[in-house]
Amino acid sequence: MSTYSDKPLTAVTLNTLAKMKKSGEKIACLTAYDATFTAVLEAADIEVILVGDSLGMVIQGVATTLPVTVDEMIYHCRCVARARKRALLIADMPFMSYSSPAQALENAARLMKEGGAQMVKLEGGGDQSEVVRALARNGIPVCAHLGLRPQSFYKMGGYRVQGRDAAAAQSIVDDAQALQLAGADLLLLECVTTAVAETVVATTEVPVIGIGAASSCAGQVLVLHDILGITPGKRPRFCKDFMLGADSIQGAVERYVAAVKSGAFPAAEHTFCT
Ligand code: KIV
Repeated sequence: MSTYSDKPLTAVTLNTLAKMKKSGEKIACLTAYDATFTAVLEAADIEVILVGDSLGMVIQGVATTLPVTVDEMIYHCRCVARARKRALLIADMPFMSYSSPAQALENAARLMKEGGAQMVKLEGGGDQSEVVRALARNGIPVCAHLGLRPQSFYKMGGYRVQGRDAAAAQSIVDDAQALQLAGADLLLLECVTTAVAETVVATTEVPVIGIGAASSCAGQVLVLHDILGITPGKRPRFCKDFMLGADSIQGAVERYVAAVKSGAFPAAEHTFCT
């Protein structure tokens, strides 16, 4: 497989993602934290690259995403932005960097101006509507991360599947609608039951990107290190090692993109039926 694609580059925008959702073409997304891996993802024609605060665990070796700072996010975002060509670049807003609309605006602007991000991602439910509204009003594209929210690790009592009882399920569905109404352009659903994911997909208009959610989501995201089989610690059930059977890192990334596009990933074993 070639390392450098010779296809003409048409930048991926929110309109591209909306069209893909409408046509049923699946959106492929992976995390990246540096220029070298970004070039590998670009060569695999990935649509979305996320500079996730998962960099706390996979790059910095800390136990949770909580210690990651805005300055660290900007540094990694800038590394990725230098090698980005076509993919839409999303940056995570780290823990406690968006606790008020004013703080969110200041930090999102830094991620975009200094880091080169094209969209910011924040965790939370309907209670973040005011922040999302302020960002949207200022022309900042927002991805809202629902379900398992790693920045709420201590509040949630660990990394657990979300939406297992009727009240919790309804609250995720309500949150998704509130965030869309507030101006979120994209939703990311992590580690929720298939039924919850399917209801969110059916009751919202913006593309939903899943991780441990459902194959009916408009797209899928995984942490790069997880698909390369080098997860520090225990690999979550919703991940798949695409290095198995691949002859190179480039090959593994291309296999991931192809599996998302064909619907082969996620399989039932990567989702949670209850
Ligand atoms: O930080 C991250 O990499 C993420 C993904 C797991 C979705 O939020």
